Amino acid sequence: MTVTLAATICLLLLLVGIGSDAAQRSSTKVATQRYHLEWNRMQETDQSWRCWTEGYRPNAANANKMHETTNGTEAEVRRILGFNQSSTVLFMANSNSDNQNLRTEFTVTPNRMVRLTLDNVGLERLQIGPFVGNENDCRLADLSVPRNRLSEVPQGLERLTVLRKLDMRQNALVRFPLDRLRKATQLKRLLLAHNQLEAFVTEDLVTFEALQELDLSHNRLKTLDSTRWSAPALASFHVDHNRMLNAIEGWSKTRFPLVRGFDPAGTNNWNQTWLKSVQ
Ligand SMILES: *[C@@H]1O[C@H](CO)[C@@H](O)[C@H](O)[C@H]1NC(C)=O
Ligand SMILES: *[C@@H]1O[C@H](CO)[C@@H](O)[C@H](O)[C@H]1NC(C)=O
Ligand SMILES: *[C@@H]1O[C@H](CO)[C@@H](O)[C@H](O)[C@H]1NC(C)=O
Repeated sequence: MTVTLAATICLLLLLVGIGSDAAQRSSTKVATQRYHLEWNRMQETDQSWRCWTEGYRPNAANANKMHETTNGTEAEVRRILGFNQSSTVLFMANSNSDNQNLRTEFTVTPNRMVRLTLDNVGLERLQIGPFVGNENDCRLADLSVPRNRLSEVPQGLERLTVLRKLDMRQNALVRFPLDRLRKATQLKRLLLAHNQLEAFVTEDLVTFEALQELDLSHNRLKTLDSTRWSAPALASFHVDHNRMLNAIEGWSKTRFPLVRGFDPAGTNNWNQTWLKSVQ
């Protein structure tokens, strides 16, 4: 009897011991999960220049390039993304890991970087700021944040005045208010494919004299109104795989002369009467 009891207690202790050991192992595993990250950063000591202009190249005499490839823990990835932006003109990071468990945020300091790429780094929040009064950003020309989990357009986007490329492909955007880009009058490429966009809208007239490429493919648009867009240079326009979309309001060959037309048998639900009138 006593022997059996002692044996039972021993067994229980053993089970409890094994259980807590296993729990400890699995929590350690999450905490030490490693994520691949490759990054490039360029610093420029002389920061006396103010705005980005076409053809800008950092002066080799005061530029410093860094490059690293690591398999880091979440804490290390966060530390790398928290680099000092005060003299950084370029930062590009990308990962080839499955980053579902990686959760990061990024705040862009205004009027520092010219180019920022954060590709598949687990971004859930992105903002630009803080801005003082009516200050704008006249440096950021390329903002590329594809393959993250951003569900909102970054705060501060409306302050970017020299933006040439915005790449937010493969995120979780539901709504894109186009007028947030109204100061980016020289925008050339706007890439929003593979989101969950139900609305791509603007309240005011927006003019993008230089816009060449607009990619809204693989979204959930049911309606699209181009009446308030002025984009005479638009040549590449992708809107395929919006399966409920049956027409684009305000679209005409005269307004968008360089766009080649739409695929009648494609992945939209085109109203064929409308389609014939715009091809
Ligand atoms: C990161 O891990 C992968 C596979 O686990 C390995 O092939 C690669 O060499 C590692 N890279 C570095 C920089 O440690
Ligand atoms: C960032 O770098 C600048 C100059 O390169 C330096 O003055 C500043 O103290 C640094 N900030 C931090 C938080 O390290
Ligand atoms: C299809 O388009 C034509 C011309 O734009 C329009 O008159 C008609 O009402 C549309 N049909 C449907 C079902 O929306």
